[in-house]
Amino acid sequence: MAQLKIEISKDNNFISESEIQQMQDKLISAQKALLEKTGEGNDFLGWVHLTSTIDEALITKIISCAEKIRKQSKVLVVIGIGGSYLGARAMIDALSHQFSGLLQKELTIVYAGNNLSEDYHADLLDLLDEKDYSVVVISKSGTTTEPAVAFRILKKHLEEKYGKEKTKGRIIAITDHSKGALKKVSLNEGYETFSIPDDVGGRYSVLTPVGLLPMAAAGIDILKMMDGAKAMEKICCSETAIKENPAMLYAAIRNVLYTKGKSVEILSNFQPCLQYFSEWWKQLYGESEGKKNKGIFPAAVSFTTDLHSMGQYIQEGQRNIFETIISVEQSKRKLQIPSDEGNLDGLNFIAGKNIQYVNQKAETGTIIAHNDGGVPIIKISVPIIDEKSLGELIYFFEFACGLSGYLLGVNPFDQPGVEAYKNNMFALLEKPGYENLTEEIKKRL
Ligand code: PA5
Repeated sequence: MAQLKIEISKDNNFISESEIQQMQDKLISAQKALLEKTGEGNDFLGWVHLTSTIDEALITKIISCAEKIRKQSKVLVVIGIGGSYLGARAMIDALSHQFSGLLQKELTIVYAGNNLSEDYHADLLDLLDEKDYSVVVISKSGTTTEPAVAFRILKKHLEEKYGKEKTKGRIIAITDHSKGALKKVSLNEGYETFSIPDDVGGRYSVLTPVGLLPMAAAGIDILKMMDGAKAMEKICCSETAIKENPAMLYAAIRNVLYTKGKSVEILSNFQPCLQYFSEWWKQLYGESEGKKNKGIFPAAVSFTTDLHSMGQYIQEGQRNIFETIISVEQSKRKLQIPSDEGNLDGLNFIAGKNIQYVNQKAETGTIIAHNDGGVPIIKISVPIIDEKSLGELIYFFEFACGLSGYLLGVNPFDQPGVEAYKNNMFALLEKPGYENLTEEIKKRL
C-alpha cells in the first residue's frame, strides 16, 4: 500500500474536474508507451520495473561494500554530477541527521565532481588531509569532465596518502559494465565496481547502485526505500484511472495548467532537509521536458525561509506559475515551544505547541494565500520523511515525468541540449579534434 496522497487545493478556480478527466485517454496511451516500450527513448526504460526486479545479490554486495567503507573511513567522497550525484545527495540529506557533519558520529558524506571550482577542490583536500576517507566515483559514460577532473585529483591524493596498493581498497567505481574510461581504469587498477544498467539514464538512476551505494554507506535502509518505490510502481503501472493513479493525476494537472499559460512550476517544501530533493526533482523535470522550445520550467523554494524572499514574487509577481507543495504530516522528532514569563515576543499563545504544529499552520496559511494570489496549488502529502515515503516519491515523480514528457510530445529520456556547453568548453580548452570550433569560437570573443 502506498501512503502518498495528491490533491489540488480545495478552493481551486484554475482547473476543473472535467479538464482533468479529458486527459484520461492521452494518459492511458502514455502509460502504455512506458510499459510496452513503444514511445520515444524506449531503450531507457529500465527504471520502470527496477524495484520489482532488483537482484538480491546486488543489494547484498552494496550493503557489504557500504559496511567496508564505514569501517575504514570517517569521510566518504561521492564523485559525480547530474544524475550521478543528485539522487544520492537528495536522499542522504533527507534522511541523515542535519548536523551529522559537525557531530561526526557517523560517516560524513561530501561531494566532488559536481563543479569546476578550484577553491572548492583545494578546501576539500584540506579536509581529506586530516581524515581517513574513501571515494565512490560515479559516471555512466566514464568521460564526464567534472567528475574526471575530481577523480584525478583525489586518486593522486589517495595514492600519496595511503600508497598505491592500499588506495585500491578505498576507491569504488560505479559505471558502465563494459565501456568507458572509468571502467578501464577500474580494471587496470583492480577497484571494486558496480554497473549502471544500460537502459537506465542518469536522472532515473537513483535506485541503482548510483544512489543505493552512497545511501547505504550513509546508514540508510535501502531495502525499505525499495519497498516504498515498489508499492508505488505497482500503482503507477497497474491503475489506469486518473483518480486511482497519482502519477497520472499529477501529470494531468500540470499538463492542463501548462496549456493555460502556467509555464513555471515551483516545488515547495517546509522541511530544510528536502532542499536537495528539490534539486533532484529540478533535474528530473528540467532535463526531461525542456526540449523543442517547450516544457514547464522547474523551480524550487524552501519554506518558511523563502516566504521571506521568493514569497513576495509567488504572491504578487507574474501569474505564469503554479506550485507543488511537498507536505509532511508528522515530524520524526518532537520539540515544544517553551513558555516565557516576560512574553515580550507575544508568543505565549503557542507555548506548549510542537514546532511541527506551527509549521503546518504556516503551510496551510501559505496555500490559502498563494491560492488567493492566483497560484494553483498541487499538494503532495507523505506521512513522514522516511525511507518508504521517499521511495514512493522517487517512483511517483519518475513515472509522472515519463507520462508528462509523452503528453508534451518530447523524449523524456534524452538530453541533447547539454552537449552545447561541453563542445564550447572543449574548443576553448583546445582539446584535440576541436580545432575548427576553437577557431570559430575565438572569433566570437
Ligand atoms: O541525467 C543525465 O543523464 C545526466 O545528468 C548525467 O547523469 C550527467 O551528465 C552525468 O553523466 P555521467 O554519469 O555519464 O558522468
